[in-house]
Amino acid sequence: MKGSENLDIEIIKYGTITSTNACAKEFLKSCERTAPFCIIADKQTGGYGQAGRRYYCPQGGLYMSLVLSEKSFEYKFAAGFAAVCVAKVISRFVTDGRQVTIKWINDINLDSRKIGGVLIEKVGTAFIIGIGINLVQTEDIPCDLKGLMGFVDTTLPARSFADEIIRELTLKILTDEQVLTEYKEYCGIDGLNIDGSLSVIDVNGKLAKKFSNF
Ligand code: BTN
Repeated sequence: MKGSENLDIEIIKYGTITSTNACAKEFLKSCERTAPFCIIADKQTGGYGQAGRRYYCPQGGLYMSLVLSEKSFEYKFAAGFAAVCVAKVISRFVTDGRQVTIKWINDINLDSRKIGGVLIEKVGTAFIIGIGINLVQTEDIPCDLKGLMGFVDTTLPARSFADEIIRELTLKILTDEQVLTEYKEYCGIDGLNIDGSLSVIDVNGKLAKKFSNF
């Protein structure tokens, strides 16, 4: 299926899939497709997040992987740029006063509950920008996620979110400094460096610890 007319990006749509990121990797490795393309699914059975951690992906969410060439996605803090794009789109659609924030590095929160996340992987020269958003609740939340997991609670179709996110990720070109500024507005922590790493300074102003951006 072809994507939005004004975006020249092929969109491949699945009902249920193991993982849109894993599928994108397979397409790239087998040369079945080259960037740009986007995979969207209604449900994932093997979704994963940072460090390969399991990412719960029931029906009612948006699960997408946008694949872009490194030329079109040159950011020092790539995960930060992607998180800002997702946060902006959700802020645009959530008009009931709930606050969208980013929890370093890649968690998207709505009023302190996690409603999404971003995972960026690279295959050759292509970036796979994996995004998950909990749009509506369709089943009971597993015990370990109760109190942590939130939902956008929207009547808008997942595709509207996907189209806007693709637009943000591809059309709005921010400098690395602007990415950092916008990220800080959503994240509100001190000590962030331009590449997204985090420096913790002690009371004497000395670097106490540096956390990597991945
Ligand atoms: C995280 O919270 O650690 C990031 C989660 C990213 C999940 C998305 S959902 C679409 C894509 N496919 C995956 O398997 N993971 C990413």
